Amino acid sequence: MINWKESYEIGVERIDCQHRQLLAKLNEFFEACTNQQGKEKIEETLKFLKEYTLEHFGNEEELMEEIDFPELAEHRKTHAEFVKTVLELEESVKAKGVSVLSTIKLNRTLTDWLLNHINKCDKLIGECIANKGNQAV
Ligand SMILES: [Fe+2]
Repeated sequence: MINWKESYEIGVERIDCQHRQLLAKLNEFFEACTNQQGKEKIEETLKFLKEYTLEHFGNEEELMEEIDFPELAEHRKTHAEFVKTVLELEESVKAKGVSVLSTIKLNRTLTDWLLNHINKCDKLIGECIANKGNQAV
């Protein structure tokens, strides 16, 4: 279980709200894994991620375009890689059924996403907005 920290916030309500929603889902999955029910939960989690990423990454990328975010291309690439991982896992689950390995892989991917992407890369968007705000004054 990972608790939401104020430091995860980038200061844009819509995006922060989506991030909190994602964390709630991740925790459901982590808890299921702890209770040896990860296998039952993986398909539902992957389905959620497919829909969620479509909307959330779209919103985030629009925002980055609006503010002329300098690392937009790299950031977009990271989003595409995440989507790819989710789709590959879904394919593998469809083809071979749910395995402990796929559960572990999703668990790792999600933890890494929270700690490295939301907490580091997405934070830069907030910083960029704050800097632009300062310049405008
Ligand atoms: Fe992002």
